[in-house]
Amino acid sequence: MKNFTCVQDIGNLKAAVDEALDIKKNRFKYVELGRNKTLMMIFFNSSLRTRLSTQKAALNLGMNVMVLDINQGAWKLETERGVIMDGDKPEHLLEAIPVMGCYCDIIGVRSFARFESKDEDYNEMILNQFIQYSGRPVFSMEAATRHPLQSFADLITIEEYKRTPRPKVVMTWAPHPRPLPQAVPNSFAEWMNATDYDFVITHPEGYELAPQFTGKARVEYDQLKAFEGADFVYAKNWSAYADEHYGEVLSKDRAWTVSDRQMALTNQAYFMHCLPVRRNMIVTDDVIESPQSIVIPEAANREISATVVLKRMLEAL
Ligand code: CP
Repeated sequence: MKNFTCVQDIGNLKAAVDEALDIKKNRFKYVELGRNKTLMMIFFNSSLRTRLSTQKAALNLGMNVMVLDINQGAWKLETERGVIMDGDKPEHLLEAIPVMGCYCDIIGVRSFARFESKDEDYNEMILNQFIQYSGRPVFSMEAATRHPLQSFADLITIEEYKRTPRPKVVMTWAPHPRPLPQAVPNSFAEWMNATDYDFVITHPEGYELAPQFTGKARVEYDQLKAFEGADFVYAKNWSAYADEHYGEVLSKDRAWTVSDRQMALTNQAYFMHCLPVRRNMIVTDDVIESPQSIVIPEAANREISATVVLKRMLEAL
């Protein structure tokens, strides 16, 4: 695998999950694979899980790791071509990227949607510039439109916990005080649509995701109806995608907060969230602390998904 930015890059999902479960039994099995290889992780945005789990994955594989927080200590970067650089940004991304590529073998990039231009976000301008100009294999640590390492970990978790071959998985919008990107829900939908699960998306009107991500999922505007018989509930906030409201918060309706009221309608569903989560906005204390909450094992599987992805990238060097 050269680059990893979306579900298509991982290939056969069953093979990927089998590989993940095998690595989980012995996460140091391939510790020789990354000897004398260096991973560079570039963060344009904050992180807890992605930073730690990806670094741990690289250590599992015997790699060296370098981390650069672009907004803390690096030169401020200009990202647009054609700009007269007489402002506060002394370096252009188009020089910085190939320079970073000189010092490593594989690059991970976190670069969220900026909500300045929907086209720029949905064209993945930053991530694609790394792919084009770094001269190195690149993987997404959450980009503007997708978070594939998270979605792969989510899939592994569902496969571990499912009680039926074809579970009903419900992704529900939930309220949040600030506008969040669509990357996590887009990506989760993309990965769920690549399975044969019964996949349902529920959200208030106006929060429709891009059609290429909604895909074959059933969309249900009545959250209570959507929750009926669910085996897994995946909660997430996202901002509006539609052109006229792109990146806007259209609702903070706390009737959508996942609570015992909705969970009682499910088939004793497991509760999932990628974290970080705002308690009593997205989900009540009672639900996230309940035995049905699997947010911690889900986060733990981030190490496993990252180990599989880095292993495959190392094998392709
Ligand atoms: N879920 C996730 O990507 O967490 P971080 O933003 O903390 O990395």
